[in-house]
Amino acid sequence: MKQEKIYLKDYKEPAFTVDSVNLDFNLNEDFCRVVAKSQVRRTEAGAALHLNGEELKLVSIKINDKPLSADQYQITAEELIVPSVPDSFTLEIETELQPQNNTSLEGLYKSNGIFCTQCEAQGFRKITFFFDRPDVMTSYSVTIEADKQKYPVLLSNGDRIKIEDLGNGRHKAFWKDPHKKPCYLFALVAGDLGVIRDTFTTVNGRKVNLEVYAAHGKQERCWHAMDSLKKSMKWDEEVFGLEYDLNDYMIVAIDDFNAGAMENKGLNIFNSRLVLADSNSATDVDFHSIESVVAHEYFHNWTGNRVTLRDWFQLSLKEGLTVFRDQEFSADMTDRGVQRIEDVDALRAGQFAEDAGPNAHPVRPESCMAVDNFFTMTIYEKGSEVIRMMQKIVGRKGFRKGMDEYFRRHDGQAVTTEDFASAIATPNGKDFTQFRRWYHQAGTPVVTIQENFDAAKGELTVTLEQSCPATPGQPHKEPFHIPLMMGLLDKSGSDLKLNCDKITVNSDGKNLIELKEQKEVYTFTGLKDRPVLSILREFSAPINLKWEASEEDLYFLMEKDTDSFNRREMAQKISLRLLHKLIDQARNKQALNVDPRFVKAVSAIIADESMDPSFKAKMLQLPSYAVLAQEEAVLDAEAFYQARTALRQAIAKENRGALLNIYRKFHNVEPKSRDTKVFGHRSLKNQALTYLAELHDPEIMEIVNKQYWEAQNMTDRMTAMMILADSESAHREKALQNFYEDWKNDSVVLNKWFTAQATTNRKQVLEDVKALTKHPAFNITNPNNVYSLLRAFGANLVRFNDPNTNAYEFYADKILEIDTKNPQVAARLCAAFNFVQKLEPAMKEKALTQIKRMVAVESLSKNSRELLQSALS
Ligand code: TRP
Ligand code: ZN
Repeated sequence: MKQEKIYLKDYKEPAFTVDSVNLDFNLNEDFCRVVAKSQVRRTEAGAALHLNGEELKLVSIKINDKPLSADQYQITAEELIVPSVPDSFTLEIETELQPQNNTSLEGLYKSNGIFCTQCEAQGFRKITFFFDRPDVMTSYSVTIEADKQKYPVLLSNGDRIKIEDLGNGRHKAFWKDPHKKPCYLFALVAGDLGVIRDTFTTVNGRKVNLEVYAAHGKQERCWHAMDSLKKSMKWDEEVFGLEYDLNDYMIVAIDDFNAGAMENKGLNIFNSRLVLADSNSATDVDFHSIESVVAHEYFHNWTGNRVTLRDWFQLSLKEGLTVFRDQEFSADMTDRGVQRIEDVDALRAGQFAEDAGPNAHPVRPESCMAVDNFFTMTIYEKGSEVIRMMQKIVGRKGFRKGMDEYFRRHDGQAVTTEDFASAIATPNGKDFTQFRRWYHQAGTPVVTIQENFDAAKGELTVTLEQSCPATPGQPHKEPFHIPLMMGLLDKSGSDLKLNCDKITVNSDGKNLIELKEQKEVYTFTGLKDRPVLSILREFSAPINLKWEASEEDLYFLMEKDTDSFNRREMAQKISLRLLHKLIDQARNKQALNVDPRFVKAVSAIIADESMDPSFKAKMLQLPSYAVLAQEEAVLDAEAFYQARTALRQAIAKENRGALLNIYRKFHNVEPKSRDTKVFGHRSLKNQALTYLAELHDPEIMEIVNKQYWEAQNMTDRMTAMMILADSESAHREKALQNFYEDWKNDSVVLNKWFTAQATTNRKQVLEDVKALTKHPAFNITNPNNVYSLLRAFGANLVRFNDPNTNAYEFYADKILEIDTKNPQVAARLCAAFNFVQKLEPAMKEKALTQIKRMVAVESLSKNSRELLQSALS
């Protein structure tokens, strides 16, 4: 197997342009014929024709209608090469595919009898020989011929031209996309599908037909996706002035899909788990994810499709920006403060870990083996943070000005992250030269804070110093341009006016420090008493703050900060300090001593009737194991578990009555409502129940069991099932059995059953997971099954890293098995080994043995190899 790297520095402009392409699909049960007819022009004198193509059977190739003989072209593992071609010509290529045998789920494949495509990043080259690169944009017309009864629905991008009955039991659809696009946005769907329809009238009066397709019988679960689509269309008009540009917008739900969803022009293809929902089958979190992913794919129409990528190293140009846009949308649809907390939690748990591990890479990488491995938390979530920092620096109004400039300059083009940064900076009179280091340097910067208050002078000096840990290939880092939103609070918790000449006030009137040097000192004058510093408000930069603030200040901020993000952040900081002590005690086999002061503060939060319930739920959440693994020098899973459990138990014990009150107050109030406020109530009361379950009190387990059996929505049912699954309660087996019986024919919902069992803290969870991989409902070729059982288990830090088992060996076996069928899915499992350097010697040895075993397999895909190999160096 070839293991060549590709490099950004090798980028060359395409040597040919394609004025138009016509794709003709003839779909059958045992083979499919594809005829691609392109109008091609050479732009680089004398260049030979190189077309990408993999695993393809070439039937014929013609230039200007003349078939080429075998000596006029060559085919390698990755290319079709024609050394000599005219300057301008018609290229006609016929290939034969076997979608029914395609298990990689890229290119053209079949899912439950439905033909569908996934071309991003490089799947189009498995359909025909073509310029499979995003900077070759062209006009597509498509015809699809298939059996009329088996495939009544025939879809592709753009406008429906017509559908012809061929009379012989087959029919043929004609589509034309009026917008030029790169081939990764091409899509085709053919199958027997149910559909729901609605319309949206754009700001300029264009009536758009909206269609959501799903398996027959499931279409009634598509209305939430439809509502989310309409909300997204409206929001993009209002917030960014962006209007939809076709007469049709289609979403198709597919059961076998490697990722979440795909923004193909006019024809989004979705993992069915991100479309199908009703209150019986989906949790509040599912409803929220569907809304945000539908929005994400819709927003790509402008950020990704109208303006696309020059090359795959620029992936964050569209993904970071589109995540930023979907996060802003969610903030407007729900609660801005709570949304920010959730986004930062996800960033910390996932992206910070990635940035600290063997696969750390910049937001704009410079090299890679497998382009598919670019779809990371760094490209998406950190990419979004980079955009958010720009927005913080120039303010919301300034950011809108920059976005307008971006579309004015680049609509219809394939561009770079540099082009984006320049479009935001110029109209705002900013220079982002230093700022661009966020794109080029990997690793999470560390900012340390020193404070000194001079009472006599009435001056506070704040010294900030930044550094950034070394990452693979980048031993030394230059200073970043870091926007730190901040304020100073007086004793009553009110924001003071800031007297400091080094403060930036952005176009929203927000105060921020722009740290640019390695070390800078800020002096605040005119202060009567020592103020309390509140910094990194709204998490204005993706950094680690090292701040030895006094306990007094932390508790003060947790109670009083005017920035809700920071109130919750301080609660996390205090818990982390405490957990650190408890972990030490556990590691030293000492009794665990929970600080009563913290428990008292938490009790006050629980009792606070004035606090918004969804915010309260966030305040009560302790840092996840994934965050602990980053904070602690050693990943000692058992000690983490003991420490976190001791803290949760102490809180539950002290607040048994108060938590029960919360439970009774909100349980079964509007159980069918999908209102954001009701979501908040439900999440708080379910959190109260989860805390109470720590008490192992039979009376509580009765309440949990009752909630399981009487639940009127999936959120309640799932919460109860998770608690029971993680218990030794006598009710456990019956509930799990019942859930299975209810949902065994509904794979999207049954995945919750797999996850509930893979994420427990039970000692025998590895045995449970092993058994479930043999369960008739588990299909290793279905990505959702793999993610909900195996990936969920790999993310179960406590049990995946349990020294009493060899979960690593089992996991490596599964990665190897999946890798032969679907490299993209296998590669996504490899992240479970990212913590290897933090393990204790014996565990580390065990993990490295498995990684070496996998890398030694010669046929291992480049996807998995790239990710595993780095863990060894
Ligand atoms: N572009 C998609 C998105 O962000 C991601 C995606 C869809 C993807 N399918 C994929 C990434 C397959 C890798 C492989 O919305
Ligand atoms: Zn995306």
